[in-house]
Amino acid sequence: MQAGSNIIDFKTIEYDHQRNVLTVLDQTRLPNEEVYLTLKTPEDVFEAIKSMNVRGAPLIGITAAYGLVLAGVQGDVQETMRAAELLASARPTAVNLTWALERMKRQISEEPGLHKRLLRAAREIEEIDKTACRKIGEHGATLIKNNASIMVHCNAGALATSGIGTALGIIYTARQQGKKISVYSCETRPLLQGARLTTWELTRQGVDTFAICDNMAASYMSNMDIVLVGADRIAANGDTANKVGTLGLAIIAKHFNIPFYVAAPLSSFDSHVASGINIPIEIRSPDELCSFKGQTIVAEAAQICNPAFDVTPANLISGIVTENGILTPPYGQAITTA
Ligand code: MRU
Repeated sequence: MQAGSNIIDFKTIEYDHQRNVLTVLDQTRLPNEEVYLTLKTPEDVFEAIKSMNVRGAPLIGITAAYGLVLAGVQGDVQETMRAAELLASARPTAVNLTWALERMKRQISEEPGLHKRLLRAAREIEEIDKTACRKIGEHGATLIKNNASIMVHCNAGALATSGIGTALGIIYTARQQGKKISVYSCETRPLLQGARLTTWELTRQGVDTFAICDNMAASYMSNMDIVLVGADRIAANGDTANKVGTLGLAIIAKHFNIPFYVAAPLSSFDSHVASGINIPIEIRSPDELCSFKGQTIVAEAAQICNPAFDVTPANLISGIVTENGILTPPYGQAITTA
């Protein structure tokens, strides 16, 4: 696949409208193998999102949109509606999934040309994401000084989008402006998106990158200039759900008086949810946590907690970088007018 932008040298997703297949980079195999999956049905797409071959809030939305394009190949309205329901149930926290599917569903009608309309809408969603990433990068780069040390969590990069990423998009843009940057990437247990994915994409782009265990964050925080994270869902009051561990980083950053910024497109905001308490948090399989390299690491009789996300309250967030600018508290008002 051709690279998605002139900053990034790989592509996460591509729809082939001649063969009607969706190709995605399999993120479960990184950093060791660069393998692409060919998805042919909405069921394939559902599995790829659920199993996290494809992950990251914006990319989940885009992938689901193309899943609906696959569902509409025969022009069957009932089949397409059924697929929309299935895809919406793949992962519960990232609101970009529902955002994308709601846009796509507006195209579903008995009018001729269903497949064409769905394809156009999915391509639009992909373009909106690319543009949002670029603008987030431009706005966010104003926060980054030369020789900055930046802590990041999980992967809010090009791998999580169809563009240059959100939090990492800021870093790429600042580097393009000539700023020298060091990035400290928290490993992000249990699925290690920070260790496996963020270090893969940053080092590929030549960024000075350090991997740290999640429990090293407090030791390194006082040396940071800023913390940058992504978001899966932002409530109307600014409370933000992101990969579990984000809340801990925000608390530590507050302690050391380090600016803590969220980077997210407007498709990650959910005006129907008043505060973080109402954000659904995905609970994933205990298996993800109780083994390492095929070996059991938790006593069999122990119970396992595996929430995939936590909620950082708005009062711990210095600002939210969106495509329309950097929102600052009070968030309620800033979000409504963004
Ligand atoms: O479970 P994941 O890997 O999909 O979680 C991803 C994150 O938490 C990201 O920070 C978030 O989706 C923002 S991606 C631009």
